[in-house]
Amino acid sequence: MQIGNNIGILHGGDYNPDQWLDCPEILAEDIRLMKKAKVNCVSLGIFAWSRLEPEEGKYDLDWLADIIQNLYENGIYTILATPTGAMPHWLADRYEEVRQVGEDGIRYDIGKRHNYCPSSLIMREKTRQIDQKLAERFGRHPGVIGWHISNEIGNNGRDGACHCSNCQNAFRTWLKEKYGSLDCLNKAWWTSFWSHTYTDWSQIRSTSSRGEDLLHGLNLDWKRFASSQQLDFSKEEIRTVRSYSALPITTNLMAFFRPLDYFQWSKEFDFVSWDCYPDWHSGADELQTAAEAAASHSLVRSLKSESFLMMESTPSIVNWRDKNRLKRPGMHALSSLQAIACGSDSVQYFQWRKSRGSSEKYHGAVVDHKNGENTRVFRDVAQLGERLEQLSPKVIGTCNQAQIALIFDWENWWAVEDAKAIDNSIQYFPIFLSYFRPFWEMGVDVDIIDMTCDLDKYEIVVAPLNYMYRKGYAERVRSFVEQGGCYVTTSWSGEVNDTDLVYLDRHPLEDVLGIVPEEMDVPDGYCENCVEYQDKKYRIEGICGLVHTKGAEVLASYQHDFYAGYPALTKNVYGKGEAYYIASVNEADFLRAFYREILQRKGLGCRMQITFPMGVTVNERKDPNRQLWFVQNFNREAAEVELLACYRNIETGEQLKGKITLQSFECIVLEK
Ligand code: GLA
Ligand code: ZN
Repeated sequence: MQIGNNIGILHGGDYNPDQWLDCPEILAEDIRLMKKAKVNCVSLGIFAWSRLEPEEGKYDLDWLADIIQNLYENGIYTILATPTGAMPHWLADRYEEVRQVGEDGIRYDIGKRHNYCPSSLIMREKTRQIDQKLAERFGRHPGVIGWHISNEIGNNGRDGACHCSNCQNAFRTWLKEKYGSLDCLNKAWWTSFWSHTYTDWSQIRSTSSRGEDLLHGLNLDWKRFASSQQLDFSKEEIRTVRSYSALPITTNLMAFFRPLDYFQWSKEFDFVSWDCYPDWHSGADELQTAAEAAASHSLVRSLKSESFLMMESTPSIVNWRDKNRLKRPGMHALSSLQAIACGSDSVQYFQWRKSRGSSEKYHGAVVDHKNGENTRVFRDVAQLGERLEQLSPKVIGTCNQAQIALIFDWENWWAVEDAKAIDNSIQYFPIFLSYFRPFWEMGVDVDIIDMTCDLDKYEIVVAPLNYMYRKGYAERVRSFVEQGGCYVTTSWSGEVNDTDLVYLDRHPLEDVLGIVPEEMDVPDGYCENCVEYQDKKYRIEGICGLVHTKGAEVLASYQHDFYAGYPALTKNVYGKGEAYYIASVNEADFLRAFYREILQRKGLGCRMQITFPMGVTVNERKDPNRQLWFVQNFNREAAEVELLACYRNIETGEQLKGKITLQSFECIVLEK
């Protein structure tokens, strides 16, 4: 990653001095407190459009210049935002078309944020003007280290899209370019079904519950278009900023955010960053939340195969869940170090100071309305700031280097949940996460890639629920396995092509998997079934694929119902590699046992010489000369781990070997 390399791990967050410009004493106090909390970087200007351009064409950037300069003189760097996260009244009032239209065809009033139409030429022009002013003025300021395009793009609380006539027209143009002729489009979407054949491009409209939302090819292309149209708007922002500034550019992503295909998005930005808000202390234990956070960090890291920034996180609570629990003592440091452990080069917060009014006045912040530095949260943040400063020289330059990849594919996400098949409540993400978690439990870093990414740099690729195959995917899997790769997939994979047309004749990877899938079942309530694997029985908790072998070896089979004895887990040797097929959705212990088996066969696993109990995990960051291990205890009690070799705690300098105790929510960072 190209940002912050000479500053160290970034520590700071969203700073909104634009809300306090008439309180100079507060602004001065901010600087004093930032230094005390070891803050070295803030994000500025995210929602400052109406302060920067109070009237159309009348700009006021001087206040921002003063703030940036003052921060810089105090050793605090700025990541500067373009202000399209929220629009000023004058813009929305004068130009109706900048406001989004919902899927019901009704145009939204101005209000809230993340609500501009990405197709509006006026919106694009007004954005270009303000972005140009900012980039011209601050693009070479020594205190500015990077650009933050807009904010949580697409997060409009609905489908992320705009359905106005400009967007509909842009969609039709996009389709013309993609399909060339209506005939091709009609075939690709199978529109002869229910007499939906299009005879004129103007008949095509966006997916809507008031109209067409059962034509799967349309649904899929509309989602692709909506993601790419939003990206096209951001690309224009990037172009404007780039023509005046050589600084690296990012936007704050939201990890597994359904409307936008982040594998496409990340290509356009110089580095990736994301906003991380795990729901700590919500379940019977912290493990599912921790695994989900680790998966999110791993996804973001994998988007560019490099370290990233955690652009937002809360130092205490959020205020947008029904119930918002405080981070218990230790959790702030642990969750922040978890981000670093998974590849982040920053711990940035939303927000530096609580606003005095409006909807986020009670959202957690480093500085509360009262008590200045004398709060638990401030002390936690300041303490962490010190730790990060100490860790920086060792951490910066290293990253996680996974030998295993899990496939998570946005287009498949859209398609599989739209399939109208055996289980219409199927959710891709939780199933995907169930395939991630056992690796996390074992302290094995995995990358998360989509079907267009390079498979060949991995030893094992795990592809759960790959219902839709992207173009060329089957061929790439075949060559991966041929050359010695280990491929694991599940039932409900290889069903449809990339316009959601079902494959005829055979599964596209029949030869590689050595099986012939035939039927699917959700026994749900009818029969408690289980599979037997390595002399143990595992409960089935979801869909069951019924397959026959065609060359594959059967490693596990169903125990009950009319398909007792049918294969539930198969292995096929193909070329120099092997391919596994998991036919049913089973209880978690099944995957734990299965992963242990394949990791052992491949000689992979946690690369640290350590044993640890459930709830403790390890991530490894390295470069050619260094290996760092982050040992994290997510348990609500202390846990004992055993170091089977001698390690050095890089914060205390202590040499450690044998049994050691980690306190609840403790994280230690070790090297050999
Ligand atoms: C998002 C936004 C921030 C703020 C936080 C609150 O991440 O980007 O502006 O609203 O949520 O958690
Ligand atoms: Zn629109």
